[in-house]
Amino acid sequence: VKPRALFLLQAGWNELGADRFASPVYEALFAGRDSYAPESIDYFVGFRPEPGFLKTLPRLKAIISLGAGVDGFLRDPDFPRHVPLVRSVDPNLAIQMSEYVTLQVLTIHRHQRFFDAAQRDHAWRQRMLTRNAGDIRIGILGLGTIGNLIASRLRTFDFQVSGWSRSRKDVPGVKSFAGESELPAFLSQCDMLVCVLPLTHETRGILNAKLFAQLPEQAWVINVARGAHLIEDDLIAALDRGHLAGAVLDVFQTEPLPSDSPIWAHPRITATPHIAGITEPRTALAYVEDCIARAEAGKPLPNVVDITRGY
Ligand SMILES: NC(=O)c1ccc[n+]([C@@H]2O[C@H](COP(=O)([O-])OP(=O)(O)OC[C@H]3O[C@@H](n4cnc5c(N)ncnc54)[C@H](OP(=O)(O)O)[C@@H]3O)[C@@H](O)[C@H]2O)c1
Repeated sequence: VKPRALFLLQAGWNELGADRFASPVYEALFAGRDSYAPESIDYFVGFRPEPGFLKTLPRLKAIISLGAGVDGFLRDPDFPRHVPLVRSVDPNLAIQMSEYVTLQVLTIHRHQRFFDAAQRDHAWRQRMLTRNAGDIRIGILGLGTIGNLIASRLRTFDFQVSGWSRSRKDVPGVKSFAGESELPAFLSQCDMLVCVLPLTHETRGILNAKLFAQLPEQAWVINVARGAHLIEDDLIAALDRGHLAGAVLDVFQTEPLPSDSPIWAHPRITATPHIAGITEPRTALAYVEDCIARAEAGKPLPNVVDITRGY
Protein backbone atom coordinates (compact mmCIF):
# COMPACT_ATOMS: atom_id res chain seq x y z
CA VAL A 1 0.00 0.00 0.00
CA LYS A 2 1.37 3.40 -1.06
CA PRO A 3 1.90 6.24 1.45
CA ARG A 4 -0.63 9.06 1.16
CA ALA A 5 0.43 12.60 0.26
CA LEU A 6 -2.01 15.43 0.88
CA PHE A 7 -1.55 18.34 -1.53
CA LEU A 8 -2.67 21.87 -0.73
CA LEU A 9 -2.31 23.85 -3.93
CA GLN A 10 -2.35 27.51 -4.80
CA ALA A 11 -3.69 29.37 -7.83
CA GLY A 12 -2.21 28.06 -11.06
CA TRP A 13 -1.67 24.57 -9.70
CA ASN A 14 -5.39 23.93 -9.25
CA GLU A 15 -5.83 23.88 -13.01
CA LEU A 16 -3.38 20.99 -13.47
CA GLY A 17 -5.07 17.66 -14.20
CA ALA A 18 -5.02 15.01 -11.45
CA ASP A 19 -2.92 12.79 -13.76
CA ARG A 20 -0.01 15.23 -13.29
CA PHE A 21 0.08 14.17 -9.63
CA ALA A 22 -0.16 10.42 -10.30
CA SER A 23 2.90 8.63 -8.94
CA PRO A 24 4.16 5.09 -8.50
CA VAL A 25 5.54 6.17 -5.11
CA TYR A 26 2.58 7.82 -3.36
CA GLU A 27 -1.19 8.23 -3.54
CA ALA A 28 -2.14 11.89 -4.03
CA LEU A 29 -5.09 13.47 -2.22
CA PHE A 30 -6.19 17.09 -2.43
CA ALA A 31 -7.15 19.26 0.53
CA GLY A 32 -10.52 20.92 0.02
CA ARG A 33 -11.60 18.31 -2.52
CA ASP A 34 -11.02 14.77 -1.22
CA SER A 35 -12.27 13.41 2.08
CA TYR A 36 -9.71 11.56 4.17
CA ALA A 37 -9.01 10.45 7.71
CA PRO A 38 -6.40 12.88 9.11
CA GLU A 39 -4.38 10.03 10.64
CA SER A 40 -4.10 8.35 7.20
CA ILE A 41 -1.95 11.18 5.77
CA ASP A 42 1.79 10.47 5.65
CA TYR A 43 3.09 13.56 3.81
CA PHE A 44 1.89 17.14 3.39
CA VAL A 45 2.90 18.96 0.19
CA GLY A 46 2.09 22.58 -0.64
CA PHE A 47 2.35 26.30 0.03
CA ARG A 48 1.29 28.43 3.07
CA PRO A 49 -1.23 26.20 4.91
CA GLU A 50 -3.59 28.04 7.26
CA PRO A 51 -2.05 28.27 10.74
CA GLY A 52 -3.28 25.31 12.79
CA PHE A 53 -3.97 23.07 9.80
CA LEU A 54 -0.83 20.92 10.01
CA LYS A 55 -1.40 20.01 13.65
CA THR A 56 -4.65 18.31 12.56
CA LEU A 57 -2.54 15.69 10.70
CA PRO A 58 -1.12 13.57 13.54
CA ARG A 59 0.98 11.04 11.61
CA LEU A 60 3.01 13.16 9.20
CA LYS A 61 6.42 11.74 8.26
CA ALA A 62 7.50 14.90 6.44
CA ILE A 63 6.21 18.26 5.22
CA ILE A 64 7.36 19.32 1.76
CA SER A 65 7.24 22.99 0.73
CA LEU A 66 6.61 23.61 -2.96
CA GLY A 67 8.28 27.03 -2.61
CA ALA A 68 11.92 27.86 -1.84
CA GLY A 69 10.86 30.06 1.12
CA VAL A 70 9.29 28.34 4.14
CA ASP A 71 8.12 31.47 6.02
CA GLY A 72 4.54 30.53 5.02
CA PHE A 73 4.92 27.39 7.17
CA LEU A 74 6.89 28.75 10.11
CA ARG A 75 4.45 31.64 10.70
CA ASP A 76 2.17 28.93 12.20
CA PRO A 77 2.53 28.96 16.02
CA ASP A 78 1.24 25.37 16.00
CA PHE A 79 3.68 24.16 13.36
CA PRO A 80 4.57 20.52 14.28
CA ARG A 81 8.27 21.12 14.96
CA HIS A 82 9.05 17.41 15.35
CA VAL A 83 8.17 16.72 11.67
CA PRO A 84 10.99 17.36 9.15
CA LEU A 85 10.25 20.34 6.87
CA VAL A 86 11.80 20.04 3.42
CA ARG A 87 12.13 23.09 1.18
CA SER A 88 12.05 22.94 -2.58
CA VAL A 89 15.44 23.51 -4.22
CA ASP A 90 14.87 23.78 -7.95
CA PRO A 91 17.72 24.74 -10.29
CA ASN A 92 15.16 26.26 -12.69
CA LEU A 93 13.97 28.60 -9.95
CA ALA A 94 17.49 29.91 -9.30
CA ILE A 95 18.00 30.33 -13.06
CA GLN A 96 14.77 32.36 -13.35
CA MET A 97 15.64 34.51 -10.34
CA SER A 98 19.09 35.27 -11.74
CA GLU A 99 17.54 36.18 -15.11
CA TYR A 100 15.17 38.59 -13.39
CA VAL A 101 17.89 40.29 -11.36
CA THR A 102 20.24 40.51 -14.35
CA LEU A 103 17.43 42.02 -16.45
CA GLN A 104 16.73 44.66 -13.81
CA VAL A 105 20.40 45.49 -13.19
CA LEU A 106 21.05 45.92 -16.92
CA THR A 107 17.83 47.93 -17.34
CA ILE A 108 19.08 50.34 -14.68
CA HIS A 109 22.68 50.44 -15.90
CA ARG A 110 21.68 51.02 -19.56
CA HIS A 111 18.93 53.62 -18.72
CA GLN A 112 16.36 51.49 -20.52
CA ARG A 113 13.35 53.21 -18.93
CA PHE A 114 14.64 56.56 -20.26
CA PHE A 115 14.72 55.11 -23.79
CA ASP A 116 11.26 53.51 -23.40
CA ALA A 117 9.89 56.97 -22.54
CA ALA A 118 11.76 58.54 -25.47
CA GLN A 119 10.27 56.01 -27.88
CA ARG A 120 6.76 56.71 -26.55
CA ASP A 121 7.41 60.39 -27.41
CA HIS A 122 8.87 59.52 -30.86
CA ALA A 123 11.96 61.38 -29.61
CA TRP A 124 15.58 60.67 -30.56
CA ARG A 125 17.08 61.24 -27.14
CA GLN A 126 20.61 59.92 -26.71
CA ARG A 127 22.20 59.51 -23.33
CA MET A 128 25.69 58.47 -22.36
CA LEU A 129 26.49 55.72 -19.87
CA THR A 130 27.45 57.33 -16.61
CA ARG A 131 29.72 54.45 -15.60
CA ASN A 132 31.08 51.19 -16.91
CA ALA A 133 29.69 47.96 -15.47
CA GLY A 134 33.08 47.35 -13.86
CA ASP A 135 32.66 50.54 -11.81
CA ILE A 136 29.26 49.51 -10.39
CA ARG A 137 29.21 47.73 -7.05
CA ILE A 138 26.35 45.29 -6.53
CA GLY A 139 25.69 43.79 -3.11
CA ILE A 140 23.59 40.68 -2.59
CA LEU A 141 21.86 40.19 0.75
CA GLY A 142 21.72 36.38 1.09
CA LEU A 143 24.44 34.39 -0.66
CA GLY A 144 22.63 31.03 -0.72
CA THR A 145 21.41 28.89 -3.63
CA ILE A 146 19.83 31.81 -5.47
CA GLY A 147 22.22 34.58 -4.38
CA ASN A 148 25.21 32.56 -5.62
CA LEU A 149 23.81 32.13 -9.11
CA ILE A 150 22.89 35.84 -9.27
CA ALA A 151 26.46 36.71 -8.25
CA SER A 152 28.06 34.57 -10.92
CA ARG A 153 25.72 35.86 -13.65
CA LEU A 154 26.49 39.48 -12.72
CA ARG A 155 30.23 38.79 -12.65
CA THR A 156 30.13 37.78 -16.33
CA PHE A 157 29.02 41.36 -17.14
CA ASP A 158 31.99 42.72 -15.16
CA PHE A 159 29.99 44.20 -12.25
CA GLN A 160 31.78 44.27 -8.88
CA VAL A 161 29.88 41.82 -6.72
CA SER A 162 29.79 41.33 -2.96
CA GLY A 163 27.51 39.26 -0.75
CA TRP A 164 26.28 39.23 2.83
CA SER A 165 25.42 36.01 4.65
CA ARG A 166 25.56 34.59 8.16
CA SER A 167 28.66 32.53 7.51
CA ARG A 168 31.74 33.60 5.52
CA LYS A 169 31.76 32.41 1.88
CA ASP A 170 34.58 31.67 -0.49
CA VAL A 171 33.13 32.44 -3.94
CA PRO A 172 35.70 33.41 -6.60
CA GLY A 173 35.31 37.06 -7.61
CA VAL A 174 32.74 37.80 -4.91
CA LYS A 175 33.66 39.74 -1.76
CA SER A 176 32.11 38.06 1.28
CA PHE A 177 30.74 39.95 4.29
CA ALA A 178 29.40 37.92 7.21
CA GLY A 179 27.07 38.59 10.09
CA GLU A 180 25.51 41.62 11.72
CA SER A 181 28.87 43.23 12.52
CA GLU A 182 29.91 43.43 8.85
CA LEU A 183 26.56 44.68 7.56
CA PRO A 184 27.46 48.43 7.75
CA ALA A 185 30.72 47.89 5.80
CA PHE A 186 28.81 45.83 3.23
CA LEU A 187 26.05 48.43 2.80
CA SER A 188 28.45 51.35 2.45
CA GLN A 189 29.77 49.86 -0.81
CA CYS A 190 26.50 48.90 -2.58
CA ASP A 191 25.46 51.00 -5.59
CA MET A 192 22.75 48.40 -6.10
CA LEU A 193 21.44 46.23 -3.29
CA VAL A 194 19.67 42.96 -4.13
CA CYS A 195 17.69 41.22 -1.36
CA VAL A 196 17.35 37.45 -1.70
CA LEU A 197 17.29 36.55 2.00
CA PRO A 198 14.87 34.06 3.53
CA LEU A 199 12.22 35.71 5.71
CA THR A 200 13.01 34.95 9.37
CA HIS A 201 12.57 36.83 12.63
CA GLU A 202 16.08 38.24 12.06
CA THR A 203 15.48 39.47 8.51
CA ARG A 204 11.88 40.73 8.75
CA GLY A 205 11.84 44.50 8.10
CA ILE A 206 15.60 44.58 7.37
CA LEU A 207 15.06 46.93 4.40
CA ASN A 208 14.21 49.97 6.52
CA ALA A 209 15.15 53.65 6.91
CA LYS A 210 18.23 52.83 9.01
CA LEU A 211 19.56 50.46 6.36
CA PHE A 212 18.81 52.83 3.46
CA ALA A 213 20.74 55.59 5.26
CA GLN A 214 23.85 53.36 5.19
CA LEU A 215 23.74 52.94 1.40
CA PRO A 216 25.68 55.39 -0.80
CA GLU A 217 23.74 58.35 -2.25
CA GLN A 218 21.73 57.37 -5.34
CA ALA A 219 21.79 53.64 -4.62
CA TRP A 220 19.18 51.26 -6.01
CA VAL A 221 17.24 48.61 -4.08
CA ILE A 222 15.97 45.39 -5.70
CA ASN A 223 13.79 43.13 -3.54
CA VAL A 224 13.03 39.65 -4.88
CA ALA A 225 12.83 37.87 -1.50
CA ARG A 226 9.66 38.53 0.52
CA GLY A 227 7.47 41.62 0.93
CA ALA A 228 7.88 41.58 4.72
CA HIS A 229 11.63 42.26 4.37
CA LEU A 230 10.77 45.80 3.27
CA ILE A 231 9.20 48.70 5.16
CA GLU A 232 7.45 50.19 2.14
CA ASP A 233 6.86 53.64 3.70
CA ASP A 234 10.58 53.92 4.55
CA LEU A 235 11.48 53.11 0.95
CA ILE A 236 9.12 55.73 -0.47
CA ALA A 237 10.49 58.33 1.97
CA ALA A 238 14.11 57.54 0.99
CA LEU A 239 13.20 57.78 -2.72
CA ASP A 240 11.26 61.02 -2.30
CA ARG A 241 14.09 62.54 -0.28
CA GLY A 242 16.38 61.76 -3.23
CA HIS A 243 18.73 59.55 -1.20
CA LEU A 244 17.83 56.42 -3.19
CA ALA A 245 17.70 56.58 -6.99
CA GLY A 246 15.09 53.89 -7.51
CA ALA A 247 13.75 50.49 -6.55
CA VAL A 248 12.59 47.29 -8.19
CA LEU A 249 10.07 45.24 -6.24
CA ASP A 250 8.71 41.78 -7.06
CA VAL A 251 7.23 41.12 -3.61
CA PHE A 252 5.04 43.26 -1.33
CA GLN A 253 3.73 43.57 2.22
CA THR A 254 0.24 42.76 0.86
CA GLU A 255 -0.12 40.53 -2.21
CA PRO A 256 -1.80 41.15 -4.59
CA LEU A 257 -0.54 44.74 -4.25
CA PRO A 258 -3.72 46.82 -3.55
CA SER A 259 -4.77 49.00 -6.49
CA ASP A 260 -4.58 52.14 -4.32
CA SER A 261 -0.97 51.47 -3.22
CA PRO A 262 1.34 54.46 -3.92
CA ILE A 263 3.87 51.94 -5.25
CA TRP A 264 2.00 51.40 -8.53
CA ALA A 265 2.38 54.98 -9.75
CA HIS A 266 5.69 55.88 -8.13
CA PRO A 267 7.96 57.23 -10.90
CA ARG A 268 11.07 55.53 -9.49
CA ILE A 269 9.67 52.13 -8.59
CA THR A 270 9.36 49.19 -10.96
CA ALA A 271 6.80 46.71 -9.61
CA THR A 272 6.13 43.16 -10.85
CA PRO A 273 3.58 40.65 -9.47
CA HIS A 274 5.80 38.10 -7.64
CA ILE A 275 6.99 36.43 -10.84
CA ALA A 276 10.79 36.60 -10.46
CA GLY A 277 10.87 32.85 -9.96
CA ILE A 278 7.94 30.53 -10.50
CA THR A 279 8.02 26.98 -9.18
CA GLU A 280 7.49 24.74 -12.16
CA PRO A 281 5.09 21.82 -11.49
CA ARG A 282 7.03 19.22 -13.50
CA THR A 283 10.35 19.66 -11.67
CA ALA A 284 8.68 20.31 -8.31
CA LEU A 285 6.63 17.09 -8.51
CA ALA A 286 9.69 15.06 -9.51
CA TYR A 287 11.40 16.49 -6.41
CA VAL A 288 8.40 15.58 -4.20
CA GLU A 289 8.43 12.02 -5.55
CA ASP A 290 12.16 11.72 -4.90
CA CYS A 291 11.78 13.01 -1.32
CA ILE A 292 8.96 10.60 -0.51
CA ALA A 293 10.81 7.65 -2.10
CA ARG A 294 13.88 8.46 0.04
CA ALA A 295 11.83 8.80 3.22
CA GLU A 296 10.07 5.49 2.54
CA ALA A 297 13.45 3.81 1.95
CA GLY A 298 14.71 5.17 5.28
CA LYS A 299 17.26 7.46 3.58
CA PRO A 300 17.97 11.02 4.76
CA LEU A 301 15.80 13.79 3.31
CA PRO A 302 17.42 16.61 1.27
CA ASN A 303 17.24 20.33 2.17
CA VAL A 304 15.69 19.92 5.61
CA VAL A 305 14.98 23.32 7.18
CA ASP A 306 16.61 24.27 10.48
CA ILE A 307 13.42 25.32 12.24
CA THR A 308 15.12 27.31 14.99
CA ARG A 309 17.19 29.26 12.43
CA GLY A 310 14.08 29.70 10.25
CA TYR A 311 15.49 28.67 6.85
N1 LIG B 1 10.28 36.40 -5.62
C1 LIG B 1 10.27 35.11 -5.91
O1 LIG B 1 9.63 34.72 -6.88
C2 LIG B 1 11.09 34.14 -5.09
C3 LIG B 1 11.36 32.87 -5.66
C4 LIG B 1 12.20 31.98 -4.96
C5 LIG B 1 12.71 32.32 -3.72
N2 LIG B 1 12.42 33.54 -3.18
C6 LIG B 1 12.99 33.89 -1.85
O2 LIG B 1 14.41 33.79 -1.87
C7 LIG B 1 14.83 33.29 -0.60
C8 LIG B 1 16.26 32.70 -0.66
O3 LIG B 1 16.25 31.45 -1.33
P1 LIG B 1 17.55 30.51 -1.39
O4 LIG B 1 17.11 29.23 -2.04
O5 LIG B 1 18.70 31.23 -2.01
O6 LIG B 1 17.85 30.29 0.17
P2 LIG B 1 19.15 29.69 0.91
O7 LIG B 1 19.92 28.82 -0.04
O8 LIG B 1 18.68 29.12 2.19
O9 LIG B 1 20.09 30.97 1.20
C9 LIG B 1 19.78 31.92 2.16
C10 LIG B 1 20.99 32.86 2.35
O10 LIG B 1 20.60 33.91 3.28
C11 LIG B 1 21.58 33.99 4.31
N3 LIG B 1 20.95 34.42 5.59
C12 LIG B 1 19.85 33.92 6.19
N4 LIG B 1 19.60 34.56 7.35
C13 LIG B 1 20.56 35.50 7.48
C14 LIG B 1 20.86 36.47 8.47
N5 LIG B 1 20.10 36.62 9.58
N6 LIG B 1 21.93 37.26 8.27
C15 LIG B 1 22.73 37.11 7.19
N7 LIG B 1 22.49 36.21 6.21
C16 LIG B 1 21.43 35.41 6.35
C17 LIG B 1 22.14 32.59 4.44
O11 LIG B 1 23.41 32.65 5.09
P3 LIG B 1 24.28 31.29 5.36
O12 LIG B 1 24.68 30.80 3.98
O13 LIG B 1 25.45 31.75 6.14
O14 LIG B 1 23.37 30.32 6.05
C18 LIG B 1 22.21 32.18 2.96
O15 LIG B 1 23.38 32.67 2.36
C19 LIG B 1 13.75 32.29 -0.22
O16 LIG B 1 13.68 32.09 1.18
C20 LIG B 1 12.48 32.95 -0.76
O17 LIG B 1 11.87 33.71 0.27
C21 LIG B 1 11.63 34.45 -3.84
